[in-house]
Amino acid sequence: TSSPRRALRGRLLDFVADPAVAGADALRYVRDGILVVEDGRITARGEAAALLPGLACPIDDHTGKLILPGLIDLHIHYPQSRVIAAFGTQLMDWLERYTFPEESRLADPDHAKWQADFFLDELLANGTTTAMVYSTVHTGAAEAFFEASAARNTRMIAGKSMMDRNAPPWLMDTAQGSYDAAKYLIQRWHGSGRQLYAVTPRFALTSSDAQLELAAALMQEFPGVYLQTHLSENDKEIELVRQTYPWARHYTHVYERFGITGPRSLFGHSIHLDDDEVRILAETGSIAVFCPTSNTFLGSGLFDRDRLAAGGVRLGLATDVGGGTSYSMLATAGEAYKVLQLRRQTLRPLDAFHMMTRGNAAALSLTDKIGTLDVGSEADVVVLDARATPAMAHRMTAVEDDLEQELFVLMIMGDDRNVAATYVAGHQRKRPG
Ligand code: GUN
Ligand code: ZN
Repeated sequence: TSSPRRALRGRLLDFVADPAVAGADALRYVRDGILVVEDGRITARGEAAALLPGLACPIDDHTGKLILPGLIDLHIHYPQSRVIAAFGTQLMDWLERYTFPEESRLADPDHAKWQADFFLDELLANGTTTAMVYSTVHTGAAEAFFEASAARNTRMIAGKSMMDRNAPPWLMDTAQGSYDAAKYLIQRWHGSGRQLYAVTPRFALTSSDAQLELAAALMQEFPGVYLQTHLSENDKEIELVRQTYPWARHYTHVYERFGITGPRSLFGHSIHLDDDEVRILAETGSIAVFCPTSNTFLGSGLFDRDRLAAGGVRLGLATDVGGGTSYSMLATAGEAYKVLQLRRQTLRPLDAFHMMTRGNAAALSLTDKIGTLDVGSEADVVVLDARATPAMAHRMTAVEDDLEQELFVLMIMGDDRNVAATYVAGHQRKRPG
């Protein structure tokens, strides 16, 4: 993690609060700024005019480009990078026809390493420096992922999927086996360097009662770990949950009853919820994760952001590759805007960029480490260029000096082409051009 001092010059943009609450005060914007990084952390920041004179270190000149905290993706499946763009199905058939067969291949550790290496480099090319990642059921696949992340020194959160029913036999573990494997992985990887663990019961349909109980036991035993699962994504899935758990009032009740709701628990999708479910998520401090490109691609439904927010539910934003169709959090924010349009709701550019950075960090209770450009924060940084493509440069000729319009162009038209550089703990991992 040790790295020499280096400075980045450009337009510094980050958030000190939620703009939906604090308005313009939430934003910190320095037109000609300097960010100094050393030993993996941000050690100084400010106006170039003030800092340049005393600066005795190399400068990466990103003048004119936006320098933001590295983007954060709260729900993504690393084994599904070859499932993106699988034609013609909704969730349950998509899992059976495309996803489970592909995940089976990660029984081979060499294949898993190949997938993990591709996946992490693709995230960095998209400016994503932290992600909450599902692995497959295989312990070795989770291990391969953590090894690949440790080699890049990225702050990743990941977990071995727990699934002991309703899947092909070769993709299943047992309740006890999944507990033992997760415990081993937690002890090996959670807090090792920048790696963090997420207990990962895939969803209610692929876990037995015993397995969900053991997932809760892991959360009790290891208070720093996270939990990730899927909730109320698709009509057919919800009906199957109703049949599988006849005692449950609704889908959320299943997770609540087994004790896996809570402030470190992230629930992907959370689309079709009744008022009681919204109440439970809010009261337990659980996080509902909006996965817009997946929800439109799989025809799952339209996330009701305003209803969840009004109910006091903590929110996050994610790609959900390979149900999702883009690794780019910019494109994901663009799709979120369109989903909310169909709901007659909106996503202002400042709220979107807050969500991709400090907002998602807050959902992880990690704002002291990532999600801002604060001095003392880990030096994960993305450099964005709104003029990176001919069509975007052309569009930008109509934008004079309006930061919010520029951000909106980035989220509606942008993707990895707009990522000029990505820094991981102060090291540049994606080079311009
Ligand atoms: N529900 C259970 N597993 C999955 C998955 O891999 N992707 C999505 N989108 N939903 C799921
Ligand atoms: Zn998912």
